[in-house]
Amino acid sequence: MHYPVLLKETIEILEPKENENFIDATFGEGGHSFEILKYTGPKGKILAFEWDPELYQLGVAKIKNLKMEKRIKLVNQNFKNIKRVVKEEGFTQIKGVVFDLGISSWHYKKSGRGFSFKNDEPLDMRINPQIKITAFEIINYYSYKDLVEIFKNYGEEKEAERVAEAIVKRRKEKKIESSKELAEIVGQVKKIKKKKIHPATQVFMALRTFINSELENLKEGIKSAYDVLDKGGKIVVISFQGLEDKIIKEVFKLLKERSKALIITKNVIRPTKEEILKNPKSRSAKLRALKKP
Ligand SMILES: C[S@@+](CC[C@H](N)C(=O)[O-])C[C@H]1O[C@@H](n2cnc3c(N)ncnc32)[C@H](O)[C@@H]1O
Repeated sequence: MHYPVLLKETIEILEPKENENFIDATFGEGGHSFEILKYTGPKGKILAFEWDPELYQLGVAKIKNLKMEKRIKLVNQNFKNIKRVVKEEGFTQIKGVVFDLGISSWHYKKSGRGFSFKNDEPLDMRINPQIKITAFEIINYYSYKDLVEIFKNYGEEKEAERVAEAIVKRRKEKKIESSKELAEIVGQVKKIKKKKIHPATQVFMALRTFINSELENLKEGIKSAYDVLDKGGKIVVISFQGLEDKIIKEVFKLLKERSKALIITKNVIRPTKEEILKNPKSRSAKLRALKKP
């Protein structure tokens, strides 16, 4: 079962209506897109972005199966290029854009690319194979100093030095090949153990965020989305880690100062207890929204 995060709250903010157009910057399994389409018939359209080519193919098949081709166009593009793609597609009158950041459940469970510390898979972690660097290369060839910086700057790992030391020591004996091996190394050296959180969470998050330039894409993506919005249009951003939230706040502030954007969510919106019970993965989610005056 797929539970799109903060779905009800997203709809309440975007207020989709008959024949309105929206952008889904992170299609994934389509949860937010298909819900928006329920409100925007008969002619409202969605332009959806999915950077992962495999998930994009699955998405195209799903849209075809549901006979939704006339209402939703899915593109295999990075959302940092929203402005260019919108122009190429001739997509206009955009009333809202939704970003539901990170990766999909599909990535953890089915991609086979080492995103999850629970599976024994090759260390890849690229959302798109055009990206040059893999987790294997970083873990086995980056210097101690670079590893420490990545773990700190992209995952807020408090024990970055100890973890990097252990990795460098182990790789002298043999290459570190799999997500499970990496998770075990991190688990063995970390002193601070949090009850509900796996000790390798931050290291995996750091690698994924760094490899896929997620923070850089986010900064570009929000600015690009703002440029294509209609007057009165809104942007909803759902994030799952502190570093993303920091960037969202910074870009929102910039847009407020530069373009008089209105920040709708004075306080960040969090999932309800009921949502967290139904979908524990939603527990770290934060929603912020902006309106173009
Ligand atoms: C959390 S999931 C979205 C889930 C979706 N809202 C749903 O309900 O199924 C995020 C998706 O965005 C994609 N993604 C990540 N970075 C992207 C980027 N820069 N451009 C486009 N898609 C991206 C990921 O591959 C992933 O499938």
